Amino acid sequence: MLLLSLQMTSLGALKCYGKTNDTLTRKCALFCTENDCPSYCICVNDKSQNNACSYLPVIPNNTLQVKETITAGTPILSINSTGSDKWTLALQRSGVVDGSIWNELSSYFKLYKFGNIYEIILNQTPDLEGIFERFAIRLKQLTLILTCKIASNPDQSHSVHLEILPVNEFAPEYKEAILKQNVSENTKIGTVILMLINLTMDRDVNPDGRELGDFGMTNYLFDAMRDGKEYFEMKDFSQGSIVVKKCLDFEALVPMNSTRFYLNVSASDIHGVTTYTTLTINIVDVDDLPPEFYYSGCPVVLDKTAPCHVAYEALLSLNYIGPMTDIVPSLIHARDMDTLNTELEFSLELSAGEKLGISIWLQF
Ligand SMILES: *[C@@H]1O[C@H](CO)[C@@H](O)[C@H](O)[C@H]1NC(C)=O
Ligand SMILES: *[C@@H]1O[C@H](CO)[C@@H](O)[C@H](O)[C@H]1NC(C)=O
Ligand SMILES: *[C@@H]1O[C@H](CO)[C@@H](O)[C@H](O)[C@H]1NC(C)=O
Ligand SMILES: *[C@@H]1O[C@H](CO)[C@@H](O)[C@H](O)[C@H]1NC(C)=O
Ligand SMILES: *[C@@H]1O[C@H](CO)[C@@H](O)[C@H](O)[C@H]1NC(C)=O
Ligand SMILES: *[C@@H]1O[C@H](CO)[C@@H](O)[C@H](O)[C@H]1NC(C)=O
Ligand SMILES: *[C@@H]1O[C@H](CO)[C@@H](O)[C@H](O)[C@H]1NC(C)=O
Repeated sequence: MLLLSLQMTSLGALKCYGKTNDTLTRKCALFCTENDCPSYCICVNDKSQNNACSYLPVIPNNTLQVKETITAGTPILSINSTGSDKWTLALQRSGVVDGSIWNELSSYFKLYKFGNIYEIILNQTPDLEGIFERFAIRLKQLTLILTCKIASNPDQSHSVHLEILPVNEFAPEYKEAILKQNVSENTKIGTVILMLINLTMDRDVNPDGRELGDFGMTNYLFDAMRDGKEYFEMKDFSQGSIVVKKCLDFEALVPMNSTRFYLNVSASDIHGVTTYTTLTINIVDVDDLPPEFYYSGCPVVLDKTAPCHVAYEALLSLNYIGPMTDIVPSLIHARDMDTLNTELEFSLELSAGEKLGISIWLQF
């Protein structure tokens, strides 16, 4: 009996019995003090007299880590029960997250007892995107409170941190299937025409900050002639801002059949996953040019520095009222120099010297 009680105080949880008789039991008790259990002994957890909480396993930094993609049903922590201790699990409430959310988050974890082992099991995959969608919180870490209850002793609580590690599940995406931008001709060099950051997203929830990394611009391979790299450049790679690099003159681009450009742009996430897309840029003519007279007898000159002078003459009888059709060398023609083809209106004015002069107005 003396030996037995010694064994009880030194080991607590284990009690040894001889398989056949009492003599053997005493021998076994000795072995138990050395934490050994030979084949002729039965070593069991003593449930009736042991009144202690079992220890939690060693957890580095007291922090458990699970990936957000962990399968429901996976155990994340086991505790060997001494037999007389009862464990409960709760989530510590912290921060601005309101109570109802903590209640719902608690249901992601369950504490099960299998024989003498308690296990914390993930009841639901802690998908960070799903949690963000449901509760509008970017979850990073939770604190689990494990409480051991034993008869006639105060409860013992332990806090264990649980870090939910983000997994890169999604590549960057563009908010629109086709990226298009109209750019007016004569847009000043250096003007930002578009910021890719405003048109890009990444479905991954990153509790530590921005999930999108840098933007990029590379060669447009499908049609090198229409690669807009000559006219546009990416200035700020963190925002993906595209700026005008070279003057855009619609009237000069039309003869080259290049009023539409393509840019091969890309967005990467912080893990380096990159998505490419094509940005189509249409150069839009603006009403930047006045109308001009033209006469078929004048040579076509693209630069207007050497105008072709035409004198028109019409002979009319005094007091004639009606259309003037006998104009030499031809009827007077004018056109909008922009491709907008704005409708023109003609009018006649008497100039200071009382000769007939012509001026015109544009009608919008
Ligand atoms: C107890 O059991 C052991 C092994 O079975 C045996 O050798 C021993 O004689 C027994 N002692 C008594 C007192 O019965
Ligand atoms: C729990 O008991 C098992 C054997 O029953 C052992 O392998 C395991 O290491 C024990 N765990 C702890 C935390 O004591
Ligand atoms: C524990 O935390 C410290 C600082 O927070 C860190 O440097 C260390 O790597 C962590 N150890 C483990 C095993 O996670
Ligand atoms: C671009 O201009 C065209 C007409 O030239 C217009 O139909 C289209 O809606 C414009 N697109 C944008 C994004 O402004
Ligand atoms: C893009 O979004 C930023 C804010 O993030 C805003 O300041 C800027 O005006 C937007 N730019 C464009 C071109 O839409
Ligand atoms: C854009 O660039 C990437 C990387 O060089 C290339 O794989 C892709 O085919 C290009 N797309 C177009 C439309 O040029
Ligand atoms: C201009 O481009 C159009 C299609 O974009 C094409 O059909 C036409 O042949 C091109 N003209 C010239 C002169 O390259």
